[in-house]
Amino acid sequence: MQPPAAGTLRVLHLSDTHLTGDRALHQGSVDTTAALERVLARVDTVPGTGLVVVSGDVSEDGSAESYAAVLERVGGWAGRHGAALVAVPGNHDLREGFRQVLANGHVLGEGGRPLAHTMEYHPPTVPVWGQSLVSGRRIVTVDTSVPGAGYGEITDASLDRLRAALAGDHAPHGTVVVLHHPPLPAPTALHDALKLRNPGDLADAISGSDVRVVLAGHYHHHFAGSLAGVPVLVAPGVANDTDVTGVYDEEAAYVDAGALVVDIAEDGSVWSTPVRVPRPDADPLAFAFDAETVTRIIEASTGP
Ligand SMILES: [Fe+2]
Repeated sequence: MQPPAAGTLRVLHLSDTHLTGDRALHQGSVDTTAALERVLARVDTVPGTGLVVVSGDVSEDGSAESYAAVLERVGGWAGRHGAALVAVPGNHDLREGFRQVLANGHVLGEGGRPLAHTMEYHPPTVPVWGQSLVSGRRIVTVDTSVPGAGYGEITDASLDRLRAALAGDHAPHGTVVVLHHPPLPAPTALHDALKLRNPGDLADAISGSDVRVVLAGHYHHHFAGSLAGVPVLVAPGVANDTDVTGVYDEEAAYVDAGALVVDIAEDGSVWSTPVRVPRPDADPLAFAFDAETVTRIIEASTGP
């Protein structure tokens, strides 16, 4: 791949790694640790990465062991490449395990140097919040997870923090917002039930601001759209790839993995290169749920 242009921040955008502490297979079919290792090996030749992002569903089981496994692999990659590392929780993550290993998610700073964190206790009801500066860009992570639920919501307190961050000290080259649930339409009935419930509040918060791009995950497939005129990029999943052409109220996924390489220029222009890392040796279907099963999952993930 070509090196990034001068002044450009290159981001390796990973999402939905779904690692398990005991290496149990995801949906009974995918070794997500091996999938993550394959993706990282594929992008090892990508030059000039300044920031690695994991936009949620970092873990499948919320265990400290699963976060440590992600940190070892993705943190190791970022450290070797001299890149910062930022992660945000998704609906599968548990805030206690996340914080225990990844603190506020801003793990490595510019150049891949570890960031210092105070060991302040936050109960799991409090969303994870973090911001840091990488190559003149303000990197803001917004926790859209709702404990015990699969859908996403940005709390009023998180919206206040986002607005305050965007109104704060000037970031020379703008802001990158990282969150799990995309503020974009969902491809299937299941994802629609589990989507971000207040995208309008996010639109209001970033409208007219210096946000250059919103990086998200959750849909396990690459999408590009916009919110309040700001590009929104959804990374393909590391764990599997949603069948976006399937029957709307059923749910299936293929054994596939990928990532985005996102270049953000000093003038705010954005250029994204999707990287696919398929497994030709695997059974192509990761899982398939009929409509009845999807309804049961929706009821369990959204409450009465
Ligand atoms: Fe996920």
